[in-house]
Amino acid sequence: MTSRPDLEAETTTSAVPASENVAPEELTNTRKVFVRTYGCQMNVYDSERMTDVLAPEGFQATDDMEDADLVILNTCHIREKAAEKVYSELGRIRKVKEARSKSGKEMMVGVAGCVAQAEGEEISRRAPIVDLVVGPQSYHQLPELLSKARQGSKVVETEFDIDAKFNHLSANAEKPVLKRPPSAFLTVQEGCDKFCTFCVVPYTRGAEVSRSVAQIVTEAERMASAGVREVTLLGQNVNAFHGEAQDGTTWGLGKLLRRLSEIDGLDRLRYTTSHPRDMDDDLIDAHRDLKTLMPYLHLPVQSGSDKILKSMNRRHTRDDYFRLIDRIREATPDIALSGDFIVGFPGETDQDFEDTMDLIRRVEYGSAFSFKYSQRPGTPGATMDEQVPEDLKSERLAQLQALVSEQQKAFNASRLGMTCDVLLEKKGRNPGQLVGKSPWLQPVQLDAPESLIGSVQAVEIVEIGSNSLFGRLNAGQDERDDAGAIQAKAG
Ligand code: SAH
Ligand code: SF4
Ligand code: F3S
Repeated sequence: MTSRPDLEAETTTSAVPASENVAPEELTNTRKVFVRTYGCQMNVYDSERMTDVLAPEGFQATDDMEDADLVILNTCHIREKAAEKVYSELGRIRKVKEARSKSGKEMMVGVAGCVAQAEGEEISRRAPIVDLVVGPQSYHQLPELLSKARQGSKVVETEFDIDAKFNHLSANAEKPVLKRPPSAFLTVQEGCDKFCTFCVVPYTRGAEVSRSVAQIVTEAERMASAGVREVTLLGQNVNAFHGEAQDGTTWGLGKLLRRLSEIDGLDRLRYTTSHPRDMDDDLIDAHRDLKTLMPYLHLPVQSGSDKILKSMNRRHTRDDYFRLIDRIREATPDIALSGDFIVGFPGETDQDFEDTMDLIRRVEYGSAFSFKYSQRPGTPGATMDEQVPEDLKSERLAQLQALVSEQQKAFNASRLGMTCDVLLEKKGRNPGQLVGKSPWLQPVQLDAPESLIGSVQAVEIVEIGSNSLFGRLNAGQDERDDAGAIQAKAG
């Protein structure tokens, strides 16, 4: 595999669904907003909420930039390549804006997200077509900021005011519920206090803050009544979640998952991304106890070398990680493990890299994402000695990805002949085909009637493709195991 799809600028999502929270009569105005999303799932969630904020202003989402009165790039700063993509995209947007202006049409341009937070007004200096720069915690102010920008001033808003953002998210509770797709994200926590020495997130998203339990439960209930069957809880460091409950106590992620699993209609729960140090017993037990909690865990370790882990400030050893994986597998033997790896962190020797390869061999991942170390201005890693040359990073990345790809193939192949629950999410490429997701987050393609979209069905896995599994609707006579997930079949 190449790289983590949700974190690379190449895999932008341009179409943002029209607002779920706004009655159709409010959408009659003709202004159009085009939002392009880069980076992680938290940006995907934020982009959807931005279109929500703009809908009462008469903005409707479009996936045609040339048709847009407002273009927003929701950006990612995690690696140099991701940040640079924004500027090349702004170059293209300039031409579209000029063409529209010739035919007398306005086009406002906003940059949101982590590049906005990190670079602030530098963005409109480098790209004067930008009217508005808005950090990840300020997008709920978009309507006011837009009207300021329309009066001609360049607007830059990068305050950290996470409470205001969370309160705004919860204010949707009174609006009518419209239909939503079967699988959706729900941000429960933002920011990060870990300060890994390679990472910009603590600077672009600020300190770790959790939403309250009541806010989250209300949003999850609304999602369930809107047709959402699977909720993925999001946080930059989601298992550090420590939300306040109504009785004043503080809940961890395990307890929150237990509460959410009681909501009618929510068949599946997932969460991402976790840090090994915050993987507590209650969360591990929740995997064992909750049928709704899917047997998949993204638990990045970054490196298998103790020396590199230390210099990355990960604050655990490779042995700690092995012990943790053992406990998780003891509680949930069939869990699919995933991770992130960085190759070529400063000081990484052949032996350090070999330690990473050894860790991967021992853990056996179902999938993993891997990146060449990218020096990020302002992070401690950027100025460390012994930076690793690019060609060596590329060589190591290729080796690591070959190993992970082998493991992923083996994991996928081990599903052949099983019958598992699949959440049917949308139409497939061919007529009569639907695409869904296995409990282990693998895409599954199968022939099934459209009326089954949004339901969980027993599906027999009959073929393994390179990127997805192929299945056949099962009459449902198979016995399920305790997790309700799988039943291995002979042959
Ligand atoms: N909070 C999450 C996500 C962080 S960003 C976590 O802790 O896992 C996602 C991944 O990007 C990281 O896990 C890391 O593997 C990678 N990454 C972050 N900074 C990077 C950098 N400077 N160079 C290369 N990869 C990086
Ligand atoms: Fe970045 Fe580390 Fe925080 Fe993850 S835990 S967001 S890698 S600082
Ligand atoms: Fe990128 Fe910001 Fe997410 S830097 S990975 S969009 S938190």
